[in-house]
Amino acid sequence: MANPFLWGVSTSAFQIEGAATEDGKGLSTVDVRPGKGNIADTSVAADFYHRWPEDVKLLKELGVNSFRFSLSWSRILPNGTGVVNKDGIQYYNRLIDQLLRNGIRPVVTLNHFDMPETLIKRYNGWLSRQSVDDFSAYAKLAFTLFGDRVKTWLTINEPLMLMFNPGYNGSHYADPDTPSVHNYQMLHYILLAEKKAMKLCHDIVPEGKIGPVTAFQNVYAASKNSEDIQAARIAEEQLSYWILDVAAKGHYPEDTLSRLQLLKLAPTVTNEDTEIFQSSFPDFIAFNYYASITAGAPKKQNGFLPPFFRSVDFSIDMGEERKTNKWSAMRADPAGLAMSAKKLVNRYHLPVMVTENGYADTMMPDDNGEIHDCERITFLREHIKVCQRLLDEHVPITGYFIWSFLDSLSGREGFSKRYGLVFVNRTDTELRDLRRIPKDSYYWYQHFLSTGGL
Ligand code: BG6
Repeated sequence: MANPFLWGVSTSAFQIEGAATEDGKGLSTVDVRPGKGNIADTSVAADFYHRWPEDVKLLKELGVNSFRFSLSWSRILPNGTGVVNKDGIQYYNRLIDQLLRNGIRPVVTLNHFDMPETLIKRYNGWLSRQSVDDFSAYAKLAFTLFGDRVKTWLTINEPLMLMFNPGYNGSHYADPDTPSVHNYQMLHYILLAEKKAMKLCHDIVPEGKIGPVTAFQNVYAASKNSEDIQAARIAEEQLSYWILDVAAKGHYPEDTLSRLQLLKLAPTVTNEDTEIFQSSFPDFIAFNYYASITAGAPKKQNGFLPPFFRSVDFSIDMGEERKTNKWSAMRADPAGLAMSAKKLVNRYHLPVMVTENGYADTMMPDDNGEIHDCERITFLREHIKVCQRLLDEHVPITGYFIWSFLDSLSGREGFSKRYGLVFVNRTDTELRDLRRIPKDSYYWYQHFLSTGGL
């Protein structure tokens, strides 16, 4: 029987689990990020680590057939390597079993923005070639432990975000404003680690499928001038294809590499690395899609951008009305989802899966304790319509996951930025009772999943 289309919701470990130092878990980069003066930190997050039985019930009632979550590397291997944490493994085993008992397929990301702190102290994390081997050992362990039940795997979430965010990768070299060759070398190791994980998955997990996860940027040209059109093409290359080509084609795009060489930013690539890049290929491409962007040829010196990106002007003013919401300089663009999917399918000849799509707001419950998040519903409806159209057109799209199941720790804004279909009763400064309140969007998705009607 053909695999069903995966209708799901998406999360990541550090954004929902909490229990950052409980039951033997080691600290990770996201637990020790500087600059957090409130309780919106990973010690509690959405408290999923303690409340997952209740949350799985909510998933079941929602009617999704799949749930995306990530494994915390330092919950499984507190020091990144060596001794395994039995409690951490038991937690993931129970969660996986409970999902399967409820007919929900676990879709597991090996790594979502967190790295064991010990590995930062030991050798600067992803900046060292040693991270490739240590990540491979961790991935091998994960496939061995869970691969009998988990058949859909994702490698490393959004390598470009990971490379540029010192809070995630733990490196002081990774300042996005002044990236150096270290950033690009780091990305190179991340991509090698991802490749090795793909090979291990195929070797270890019977019928296992694995794919990379990128934040795909659909880029429009600011005008029909050829310079702007060229800039938009370069932007897509620099933001997405550069990374995905390694995963799916086994090499960096030629012009990206020569550009990096020109800027003295190119990573060192050994012959062995070239072989590793060709040693395994993904079964699908997963992409996180929130909005499209517009780019043009730079009219003035783009000094604020990292050198690699300076050939493109991303700062085109698109006007308030075209922004998705107050956080986004980008615009909600459901049609861009279709364009993204088709671009990826055409370039890589692989099925695609939307692993994140969602809408952030600040809504708190009203006087009746309800959350009428109409704008989120509109956003989701329009994007789901696009998925349905893609299916009708026989574009090989295999899943769609809403970011996010629960209100969770936003990468940058803690709990003041809420993406959840389910409200979590806490704020950045007050750790209330963490009660779950399904929002109108939860009931809307539930209705869609049970009737197919939008
Ligand atoms: C995606 C990440 O890029 O964007 C998620 O995979 C993240 O982890 C989401 O939460 C939204 O970004 P933010 O910074 O608003 O939480």
